[in-house]
Amino acid sequence: MTDRLDKILGHKGFGTRKDVRRMVRAGRVLVNGEAANDPGLHCDIDRDEICVDGEILSLEKNIYLMMNKPQNVVCANKDGLHSTVFSLLDDEYQTGFALENLHLIGRLDIDTEGLLIFTTDGKLTHRLISPKSNCPKTYFVRLEKALDENLKKEYEKKLEQGFYIPPEGNEAEFTCLSSKVEFTQKDDEVFLTIVEGKFHQVKRMFAALGNAVIYLKRVSMNGLKLDDSLECGQYRKLTAEEVELLSRDL
Ligand code: URA
Repeated sequence: MTDRLDKILGHKGFGTRKDVRRMVRAGRVLVNGEAANDPGLHCDIDRDEICVDGEILSLEKNIYLMMNKPQNVVCANKDGLHSTVFSLLDDEYQTGFALENLHLIGRLDIDTEGLLIFTTDGKLTHRLISPKSNCPKTYFVRLEKALDENLKKEYEKKLEQGFYIPPEGNEAEFTCLSSKVEFTQKDDEVFLTIVEGKFHQVKRMFAALGNAVIYLKRVSMNGLKLDDSLECGQYRKLTAEEVELLSRDL
């Protein structure tokens, strides 16, 4: 995959687009041994050698992984008590570029399972977790109380409208945005799609409706579905198509 030279250098921390353009026009940047001159030149970081002020850049490709998170592991880099999701990754992700840059796109509670994305792509993370992004996340939810037809109608309406969620501990109250519920064959199991990511959000939403979540699993994010061949704790790289899907603008 190719990208503009000024974009590549900007991501590598050589300054703003303007700074980078100036550097390129001043002949300080060589691509495959020749002065680039054009900041818009398309380069392939897997093939082209980019040299700035006589030093060859090491350009690492971003990493994108999906894991089926198991219960009883925490979404943190370190935890004194529990294993972390990072400890489930192979050695190749425990050193160098990966160790320094790999992070999660959104976290899941210790008792939540399902789709967890690891990446080194900070820009994508920033975009997807920004409150303005409205990134849809779908959860499979098992409820304590089964729903009859009246309750289903009531839930559907309230979830579509949004409603008041009381504070929890230090977490502030809020009014949840419109969400979409899909009922299944079983009266105590639903899919819920939300576009926010507040602390304990799904659990707090159902608690506010007078029910309780007894099992929670994230099954998709921004249209990217959890690969159901992944056992709990297993992970794999995303394909190029999956990265594109996850990165799409809504
Ligand atoms: N909502 C929750 O309550 N918990 C999660 O882990 C994710 C969404």
